[in-house]
Amino acid sequence: MSDVQTGILAPLPTLGRYLGFGARPQGELLAALRALGELADGERVVVGLGESLVRALGRDIPGLHSFAGAAGPGLELPSTPAALWCWLRGDDRGDLVHLTRKLQAAVGGALVLDQVVEAFRHGAGLDLSGYEDGTENPTGDEALHAAVVAGQGVGLDGGSFVAVQQWLHDFGQFEAMSPREQDNAIGRRRSDNVELDDAPASAHVKRTAQESFEPEAFMLRRSMPWSEGQRAGLVFVAFGKSFAAFEAQLRRMIGAEDGITDAIFRFTRPVTGGYFWCPPLRNGRFDLRALGL
Ligand code: HEM
Repeated sequence: MSDVQTGILAPLPTLGRYLGFGARPQGELLAALRALGELADGERVVVGLGESLVRALGRDIPGLHSFAGAAGPGLELPSTPAALWCWLRGDDRGDLVHLTRKLQAAVGGALVLDQVVEAFRHGAGLDLSGYEDGTENPTGDEALHAAVVAGQGVGLDGGSFVAVQQWLHDFGQFEAMSPREQDNAIGRRRSDNVELDDAPASAHVKRTAQESFEPEAFMLRRSMPWSEGQRAGLVFVAFGKSFAAFEAQLRRMIGAEDGITDAIFRFTRPVTGGYFWCPPLRNGRFDLRALGL
């Protein structure tokens, strides 16, 4: 029996660190994955494999492909694929630094660390705009149903697909908006998180209302604020049993359905974008049977 990586369902940690690795040509990928499996447990380190890595192993994971990127009027959503994505979760920044070094050493011959993003929990799960993020996340069995693959067979069941985008906020633009404009951009009142019935169609929660899609587009968001020097924003992270819900929502956000773009683009934009397959766990270890390991 295979299980989902436990860090996917667990509440957000105090601190996070996102690592993006690229593949080295001729690297010993199988050895790297085995070494990674010794260190990463799916809880303290959630792991996602990119299409390039899976293909380099001569394998195919049904449903895994790279994020194609997208564009809307005045909007670019870049695709920045990586071979391996790790989400380190903890409460001590020094521990995360050392864990990063261990992971790097473990996979070093085959994978090179290209990107590190430091993330943290803000208040009771707020985006840096001050709005609560994650309110409408499914919970319990509904979270499993939204985020975890089932009925596809050994090595695939218990897996999950994750969409990751680093969003860069423009706080100057955000602060230039009146409190009412800000609430209308999200579609909720920042002061008490109440959803605004009269929010415009461009409001973020109107664009993304999960039950308004056909089929319904539920997913499990586990986003965390990030900062580096003077730059900051949100690492948007959404787990799904496929990428379909994310793609449906993104299409609506960029106005591809009705020409109305999501009002959050007034103050934030994605600067990265990648898709990964998160293998299941078996007896507390990564189950890589789908890759022939
Ligand atoms: C910087 C980028 C983003 C910010 C700051 C942001 C913030 C928020 C906030 C404050 C909420 C309302 C509370 C909640 O239910 O969580 C929300 C809801 C939601 N967001 Fe985002 N979000 C961002 C990007 C995205 C993206 C890229 C997607 C999907 C492609 C997305 C999908 C959703 C969904 C599905 C909901 C719940 C809608 C519902 O069913 O009511 N968000 N977001």
